[in-house]
Amino acid sequence: MFEKRIKIKSPDQLKQFASTLSSCLKGNELILLTGDLGSGKTTFTKFLVSSIDSEAGEDVNSPTFSIMNVYETDRFPIYHIDLYRVKQFDLSDVLDNGLVIVEWPDESMYEIENTPILILDFFITEDEGREINIRLKNADYVRKCIR
Ligand SMILES: Nc1ncnc2c1ncn2[C@@H]1O[C@H](COP(=O)(O)OP(=O)(O)OP(=O)(O)O)[C@@H](O)[C@H]1O
Ligand SMILES: [Mg+2]
Repeated sequence: MFEKRIKIKSPDQLKQFASTLSSCLKGNELILLTGDLGSGKTTFTKFLVSSIDSEAGEDVNSPTFSIMNVYETDRFPIYHIDLYRVKQFDLSDVLDNGLVIVEWPDESMYEIENTPILILDFFITEDEGREINIRLKNADYVRKCIR
């Protein structure tokens, strides 16, 4: 499995990272986001959606109370799911219908077959910067968009 850990010193660097990453996405991926409260999962999602469709990016907020937000974009629908308060969620209705982004995923989601999976683990560093550990499953084509 491809794995890489990168340093993100500022929100601007996160924006750059998300923008580069987005150019490799086909719209059928599952992106799993883990990390402490406030580590940057929603901020990353907003930058990612913005770089795909700037208007849709304005709608991105924390779906904590709605569980799922859907953003229609020029390229493909994006399903943004937050499972912080939810134990189980069935992804079968959304997988393969667009890009699926999950904050606080449950364990079973790492094992989903036949779907390209990007696992991004966010860490807050001592200097209040961020690190992201990236793993790719069935998504080797995304490697060239990780810098
Ligand atoms: N380098 C950085 N990358 C990302 N966010 C940063 C960075 N530096 C500071 N921040 C700030 O950290 C906060 C991250 O909040 P965000 O809502 O994205 O976290 P989250 O991981 O989604 O939290 P939650 O688990 O509560 O959903 C934002 O206020 C953002 O401005
Ligand atoms: Mg969040």
